Amino acid sequence: MSDSGHRTILVSGGAGFIGSAFVMQMLATNTNLRIINVDALTYAGNLENLQAIENDPRHVFIHAEIQNTELMHSLCEQYAVEGIINIAAESHVDRSIQNANPFIETNIQGTVSLLTVARDMKLKKFVQVSTDEVYGSLDQHSTELFTESTPLAPNSPYSSSKASADMFVRAFHHTHGVPAVITRCSNNYGPRQFPEKLIPLMILNAMESKSLPVYGDGLNVRDWIHVNDHCDAIHRAYEYGIPGEVYNIGSENECNNLHIVRTILSILGKSEDLIQFVKDRPGHDKRYAIDASKAKKELGWKPRITFELGLRETIEWYQDHPEWCEHVLSGEYRDYYSQQYHRER
Ligand SMILES: NC(=O)c1ccc[n+]([C@@H]2O[C@H](COP(=O)([O-])OP(=O)(O)OC[C@H]3O[C@@H](n4cnc5c(N)ncnc54)[C@H](O)[C@@H]3O)[C@@H](O)[C@H]2O)c1
Repeated sequence: MSDSGHRTILVSGGAGFIGSAFVMQMLATNTNLRIINVDALTYAGNLENLQAIENDPRHVFIHAEIQNTELMHSLCEQYAVEGIINIAAESHVDRSIQNANPFIETNIQGTVSLLTVARDMKLKKFVQVSTDEVYGSLDQHSTELFTESTPLAPNSPYSSSKASADMFVRAFHHTHGVPAVITRCSNNYGPRQFPEKLIPLMILNAMESKSLPVYGDGLNVRDWIHVNDHCDAIHRAYEYGIPGEVYNIGSENECNNLHIVRTILSILGKSEDLIQFVKDRPGHDKRYAIDASKAKKELGWKPRITFELGLRETIEWYQDHPEWCEHVLSGEYRDYYSQQYHRER
């Protein structure tokens, strides 16, 4: 407990899609909590995502990189931080194919930096927000699921950097006793997702009656979960997760990309003629599917938002926030966004 009488945690990446949802959800549901939100504000980080809490004194925003170990250490000291939740990352597979270096710097070196601080300051908990992509790909036609004991077999530079980070988390727990847990979640959707990823890109293109570029045959399968359900799981992993353990998070909602694109077009009342199949992403994983029974049993977690409702509300959010879309897609982002690819993660 800090002098302010609050429990204080450091959350990294809290201006991004999942991080901003997490910070807002945590402050709304925990009156006695203060969050030190460290974000480098890369192209994917946006302070507009945090407008709802800009006057909340329990939210302290720090514009910094997590690789700055000295600063992370002094922030933890200054604010009497009890634990760290590491959400910051370079998160987009296509960008990692173009240049892997930022992924090494943020996802691997940044994680090691925060682990070092957690070790040196003997923090109470460390949560590493990882991804199901570290497990590689499942057969498109099988019914197999990723469990926590599925061997890591990352296929993209992005997922390799996340798997490397997971290995460092494991090592810092095993060697230094850092009380760390790892969550591995499936594909998220919801408000404020940067429109390089599949669902927001398709929504925005469909709204403007532009073509909807779909990789390959569009039959790649993902398990889609609403961001708020993921945030609830991260919270529970922080409170109840057993150090050294991994928790898979998923919604038992397997859909192929083409189905998602068709559903978006149908909700928006647009023609399927807008669908345009484009050359597949190199190394594109065929299927991800998650067995989340351990998180349900040990963390008392379950997903609550159905895909039908969550997708409708997400579409409405983008329709109601044209100024957000305009802002995040200004300048260089618009050039990137307008390339003829769909963006999956
Ligand atoms: N989006 C998904 O579907 C999904 C699924 C499973 C796991 N994850 C994981 O969840 C995390 C968040 O994903 P997201 O979709 O919200 O990503 P995002 O790209 O929307 O946000 C990432 C945030 O991290 C910040 N950041 C980047 N580099 C930083 C650095 N060096 N120091 C401090 N901040 C930095 C960015 O400014 C941004 O605000 C990632 O670790 C990702 O691997 C994402």
